[in-house]
Amino acid sequence: MLRVTGLDVFIDASHILRDVSLEVGERQVVCLVGRNGAGKTTTLRTIMGYRRPARGTIAFRDAALERMPTHAIAARGLAFSPEDSGIFADLTVAENIEIATWTRPTGRPGAERIARAYDVFPRLRGYAARGGTQLSGGERKMLSIARALALDPELLLLDEPFEGLSPAIIPTLAESLAAITRLGCGLLIAESNIHHVPPWTDRLYVIERGEIIFAGTLDQAHRDGSVLRVIGGKAS
Ligand SMILES: Nc1ncnc2c1ncn2[C@@H]1O[C@H](COP(=O)(O)OP(=O)(O)O)[C@@H](O)[C@H]1O
Ligand SMILES: [Mg+2]
Repeated sequence: MLRVTGLDVFIDASHILRDVSLEVGERQVVCLVGRNGAGKTTTLRTIMGYRRPARGTIAFRDAALERMPTHAIAARGLAFSPEDSGIFADLTVAENIEIATWTRPTGRPGAERIARAYDVFPRLRGYAARGGTQLSGGERKMLSIARALALDPELLLLDEPFEGLSPAIIPTLAESLAAITRLGCGLLIAESNIHHVPPWTDRLYVIERGEIIFAGTLDQAHRDGSVLRVIGGKAS
């Protein structure tokens, strides 16, 4: 579904991404794991068209995304939940979700998209009238993902969805992400903690200093010395 090949990205004079390649198949769940500063956010933002690669290609189905503006990329069915949530704090939970249903016509009625967002995040249903400023950090993350889901995407890009969440809420969010995949939506998740990578992840890439140093399953990652040196954790 998504194929990123040989991306090089510079920010000012700094070479931030080096020959980054990764793939997400139809309905797959893929995690991009790396330490802070490794290049995860830059990778997702380049896929979404917020940055231009100096080299490399980004193919989504039959479309070349690497020269498209962000709105055209979103229209193709990619949605992004940024690290800082990016919700509209002045709007209510319900308004944040509803706005997303206007912006990308897909044939699926708005009411159904809104119902799916609340089915995936039942906690938000009780908070529909709350403003964005009345939400905890975890609730904001959920709203950000719910809003992206209401765009009715084919592939959802999530930047550190588990970051800053209390340990009690992490399994709840993981269950919501699993529910999204059951709707047929693919996921590309950036994550700095390998322990947050859901066990049902199809494939994992490890990025270090802008380079992909590992691609494989979560099991393989847990047995790979170079991965463990970068990500921490214990050899099994
Ligand atoms: N706007 C920016 N200006 C300058 N350097 C940046 C900017 N954004 C990211 N970088 C640098 O690019 C590298 C990768 O950052 P980022 O993609 O945010 O990593 P991650 O998401 O893995 O923490 C870091 O060294 C960071 O300092
Ligand atoms: Mg980041």
